[in-house]
Amino acid sequence: MTILVLAGTSEGKEIATSLAALGVRAVASLAGATRAPKPLDLPTRVGGFGGEEGFLDYLKVAKIKAVIDATHPFASQITDRTAGVCATLNMPYLQVLRPAWESQEGDNWAEIAREENAADFIPLGATVFLGTGRQTLDRFTGLEGRRVICRQIDPPTAPFPFEGGEFLIGRPPFPVEREKTLFAALGVEWIVVKNAGGVASATKLTAARELGIPVLMIARPPMPDAMRVATVGEAVSWVQSL
Ligand SMILES: NC(=O)c1ccc[n+]([C@@H]2O[C@H](COP(=O)([O-])OP(=O)(O)OC[C@H]3O[C@@H](n4cnc5c(N)ncnc54)[C@H](OP(=O)(O)O)[C@@H]3O)[C@@H](O)[C@H]2O)c1
Repeated sequence: MTILVLAGTSEGKEIATSLAALGVRAVASLAGATRAPKPLDLPTRVGGFGGEEGFLDYLKVAKIKAVIDATHPFASQITDRTAGVCATLNMPYLQVLRPAWESQEGDNWAEIAREENAADFIPLGATVFLGTGRQTLDRFTGLEGRRVICRQIDPPTAPFPFEGGEFLIGRPPFPVEREKTLFAALGVEWIVVKNAGGVASATKLTAARELGIPVLMIARPPMPDAMRVATVGEAVSWVQSL
């Protein structure tokens, strides 16, 4: 039986490592969003499947018998579709979803449902740091009139989509002290992030807390009705139980 691991997160990478070490027959899949992704320890296919039809074909041709969905909590298109397809095919499906971040003492967070709501909070002229990646940048055009700094892994291939914006290139990890130095040097007054959860990317929230910078936290999209675990260990146990 071949397991498909939908990857693109640190959990996807760790699951690939564990399954490879156990000798489980599995293939990993990356969307191809990052130009030079770190290699995974499983045979890896890269790029979209070509919609639902392409995905169904792929499952058949690659003889996939179960799917672990370790995509990002905000990658709702692939998660909704995969959960739906697997339910229809009666194919075992497991989503690995890390817990969302919760505010703690010293945090100054406001939750927003959508990127478009950021402009309701952030005054004109403010300096804003977007830790949300380039894919959803178009949704922040309401922030025109602020200095908007968008961090992304790869160098930009297109100009910033609105006036007053600039890209900052950086590949994680970003230790807390480096984040603090960066935010202070840029004069960051607001930070906007998606509630991705996880330890590695929480450093910007620690830096914000320690510097007293307010955070706009974009709430997670709704999740499908499907089997779900929070950790890599649970996902590996699930594979072993199949
Ligand atoms: N959204 C984020 O904030 C975020 C952050 C960090 C990493 N990522 C990672 O980046 C990838 C794309 O995220 P997204 O938000 O653009 O996804 P999405 O909106 O849910 O999916 C868009 C399309 O990308 C393709 N796709 C997504 N994940 C794939 C995978 N693992 N393997 C093959 N094709 C995949 C599918 O194309 P087809 O319809 O052609 O199959 C899907 O319909 C995901 O793997 C995710 O884990 C996303």
